[in-house]
Parts: sequence; structure tokens; C-alpha cells
Amino acid sequence: MLKDKKILLIISGGIAAYKTLELIRLIRKNNGTVQCILTEGGSQFVTPLSISSLSGHKVYSELWSLNDESEMGHIRLSRGSDLIVVAPASADIMAKMAHGLANDLASTTLLASDKPVLLAPGMNPEMWRNPATQTNTDTLKQRGVMFTGPNDGEMACGETGLGRMSEPEEIFTAITDFFFEKPLKGYSALVTSGPTYEPLDPVRFLGNRSSGKQGYAIAKALRNAGADVTLVTGPTNLPDPQGVRITSIQTANDMLEACTNALPVNIAICAAAVSDWCVDAPQMQKIKKTDDSSVPKLHLKQTPDILKAISTHSKNRPQLVIGFAAETQDLENNAKAKLKKKGCDWIIANEVGIDANGIEKTFGSEENQIHFITQDQNEKWDRASKDSIARKLVQQIINHMDKNNGS
Ligand code: C5P
Repeated sequence: MLKDKKILLIISGGIAAYKTLELIRLIRKNNGTVQCILTEGGSQFVTPLSISSLSGHKVYSELWSLNDESEMGHIRLSRGSDLIVVAPASADIMAKMAHGLANDLASTTLLASDKPVLLAPGMNPEMWRNPATQTNTDTLKQRGVMFTGPNDGEMACGETGLGRMSEPEEIFTAITDFFFEKPLKGYSALVTSGPTYEPLDPVRFLGNRSSGKQGYAIAKALRNAGADVTLVTGPTNLPDPQGVRITSIQTANDMLEACTNALPVNIAICAAAVSDWCVDAPQMQKIKKTDDSSVPKLHLKQTPDILKAISTHSKNRPQLVIGFAAETQDLENNAKAKLKKKGCDWIIANEVGIDANGIEKTFGSEENQIHFITQDQNEKWDRASKDSIARKLVQQIINHMDKNNGS
């Protein structure tokens, strides 16, 4: 995969440095070449011996070591690489980069380099949130430095928040994304995802169990293929994918408005589990429970059908519109009927509900099992991770666009 690709990996100070060993392994397993610079801070967490054993190369640390300078000076270290990756990128090294400091081998190499740089920040959440780090991040992004993460979660120090370095697989994906061709470059895509919340009163809502994982995975796979992606999402617990325009909404009406505003696009994928009903008139104040046993009567009305509105849009119908069908029974027939009723081009049908072991089949799960249904095709795809279903779907989209746009 990374054959002939040369990566210069800078490991700066942070507990996440131990995860970088796995990244080195992944790069080498995929035939990439990786040379490493270890900062003084980084050497507090991992040893040069473990890095050189995994990378198969000497590890560089000293700016003024005669050996380092004569064997492979900082200029040559960067010149010989296709991409520089800093993982973990500490607040310190980001500050040095933003301000042009060059007082050790890592910062000097970065300053003397004309190569693309990918940062994987890893630090305490307060350090990440600090306006100084945020300003440095903005400065670096403006200069074209690429970022992966940081992620939200528990830190080694016991605190929780945004600051965890991306996992090695995520950094590896960011690296391969950088090197690979972008077959959907020039195309725009709209993805809907997650549930909608339809308010009953200021504290209660009608919702559903959708986690948004499949829609997010599709948005990321489209982005990786080079598309300009707008993700319109209901409430989820997922981190915002980078490089995707995100509009967060609550209700089906909001989602329709956000989608209509996002048109025209070349491709629309409606993966959201939109609530089919909302209450006629949500109460402005919390509905109180009464002392007797009476219960409030809810008057429901249908929400707008967003997929149908996009599929039948008179002026801005996307070239390819894909809907989802979550069914608990008679999957294929229901999905076929939906294709017609909604006027979309493809339907991704999946079974939802509880399986024989009492486990939810799709909603919230990391995996999915789908049927890919078009006017004249009906393929059952193997059960797989939502990321891998997303990649396979995007490959179908690429093939379709190639065929229909003559490339
Ligand atoms: O009508 P049903 O919910 O079964 O259809 C599912 C498909 O329609 C999904 O693609 C979903 O995103 C979309 N949908 C929509 N607006 C609605 C209901 C469903 O866009 N109000």
C-alpha cells in the first residue's frame, strides 16, 4: 500500500508515544519506509532501541551530534521524505512550529522543511483547550498543516476530554488518505445521519435508537475519496469528522431546511433515521403529571419526507440519490417498494431490531448487514464493520460516477 513512500516520523513528548510504535509497525507492514526523530520529551516515554527495532533504521535525536549531522543532517532528513508525521504532537512542538522556533533536531527539521506535515496532537485536555494551543492550531491549519484528532476520551492522567492522540489506525488512514488519488474530487455530497428529536415539550422528545455511526462512516469515506461533504446530523455522541462540513439539527423540519440549503450537490445519501411523526403543537412548558391517572393525549402529524423531497426536487435533484430502509420484516420487498415510492436511485436496506441473543442488530452496533438495491440489482453484502460497508458503498458510487460521467 505504501510502497516507495518515505515517511519521517517525529515522536515528541507524551504518554501516547507508546502508541506510535504500533504506527511504525503499520507503516512497515504496508511496505512504507519510516525514519524517526525522537525528541528529548519523547525519549522519556519510548526508547530509541524499541523505535529502531521496529523501524529498521537508526533513530535521530541530537541536533549537534557530529554523527547525526554528518550521517543525515536535518536538511537531508526532511528532503528525503514524502511526508512528515508528528505523533504525538505535543503542545510544545506545535507552539514551536507556529512561531518558527528551531532549538532541537525536531523543530529545526520542521522549520527547514518544504514537505507536507501531518500532526496527531496528544496532550492533556486543558492544554489542548488553552487559547494559546488553539491559536497555534489555527495558524498551522492556515499554513496547510494537516491534522488528525485529537479524540475525546479518557486520558492517561485520569482526566477526560479532547486531547487523546488519534489511534494508530486513524493516523495510518490519514497517511494513506494523503497519498491516494481522490476519485471523487470535484464532486459534492450531502449525507444525513443520526436520529431526529421531535419535541413534546421543552424536556421530552420523540426519538429513536440511531447512533449515526453508519452515516458518519459514509461521510468520512466520501471525504477520503475527495468529495466535498456536507453532513446534516441529528444528535449523536460521535466526534465531528474532520474535513466535513457539519450542520447539527434536532428535528425533521430542521433537517429538511439544512438539506435544502445544502443543494445543489452531485450525490445525496439519506442515512438518517428521521422520525416519521412529530407532535402537532409541542407544549411551550413542561407537561405536568396530574394527580389522577389521566395521561396527556398526543396529536401526531407526519414529518416531511426529506429523501422524497431531495429525490423529486424540481430544480436541484442530485445526480445520484441513495436512501436507507431500516426494516424489521420483509426487508427486500419493503426496500424495493421504498425505492419506487421515494423516487431515489438506490436503497441500502438493513434489518433492525433485536437478534436471537437479545442484541440490537444495527442501531449502535459497530457492524452492519445490508442489501444493496437498485432498479435492477439486489445484492446481499456480508456482515462487516460500518466503516467497511461505507468504503464499499463509496466504491459503488465512484463506479457509477465514472460510468455516467464518462471518465
Ligand atoms: O420512510 P422510511 O423511514 O422507511 O424511509 C427510510 C429512508 O427515508 C431513509 O433514507 C431516511 O433517511 C429517509 N427518510 C427521510 N425523511 C423522513 C423519513 C425517512 O428522509 N421523514
